[in-house]
Amino acid sequence: MKVPQHIGIIMDGNGRWANKRGLPRMMGHKAGVEALRRTLIACSDLGVKYLTIYVFSTENWGRPKTEVVALMALMELVRNEITELKKNNVKLTAIGDLDKLPAKSRKAIQQTMDATADSTGINLIMTINYGGRSEIVHAAKELARKAIENPELLESLDEKEFASHLYTAPYPDPELIIRTGGDFRISNFLLWQIAYSEIFVSETLWPDFAKPDLEAAIKDFSKRDRRFGKVKTAK
Ligand code: FPP
Repeated sequence: MKVPQHIGIIMDGNGRWANKRGLPRMMGHKAGVEALRRTLIACSDLGVKYLTIYVFSTENWGRPKTEVVALMALMELVRNEITELKKNNVKLTAIGDLDKLPAKSRKAIQQTMDATADSTGINLIMTINYGGRSEIVHAAKELARKAIENPELLESLDEKEFASHLYTAPYPDPELIIRTGGDFRISNFLLWQIAYSEIFVSETLWPDFAKPDLEAAIKDFSKRDRRFGKVKTAK
């Protein structure tokens, strides 16, 4: 099995999972945290080097206030995972417009990032208050500011330079994107970075996602003929 070094996951279906059980939506998100723990360990065991997850999108602010507040509180709990993350050699990073988060959640996330900064195993990249379009606008603004100082930048600007201004600059592009919950859409996740990613849609709702689902996605990925816009050369 060819294992991608970078997997992105759109963790969808928490609400439906809870509805099916007559539970409040938040119980679905809590179960989603368990699924995340399982998936992170499974990815680490398989040798995945980067796991990027869609935790909270720029559009998620439009959910009912109680759900937004509860999701922010859930993020604050990330601090309780520090020991486990360090034990598993996980380096946690959060990307997105984190300034808009409540101070308590932001602080807990920053503490967890600092505490795991020296880990050398899997990178867990949480996208929070993140949107692919807003990330691109953010990069464009940074570049425009630099171009005012140094107009030559406009002439030399290429894709590599542009990508170095995205939140994901330190990471390779994901080879595989998994979306759970059965919907075939990207929902503003990593728009620039997925130019040549393989996409796998799993019918499994995120709280039920487990190692066999991950393996099914990677097995399918292994079979894909990745041509990157070129023609396969004869052997
Ligand atoms: C999508 O399910 C899920 C989210 C918007 C939140 C994702 C968050 C988690 C899994 C918890 C992880 C939390 C931390 C702190 C890492 P949905 O609510 O859109 O489900 P639905 O499509 O069935 O309504």
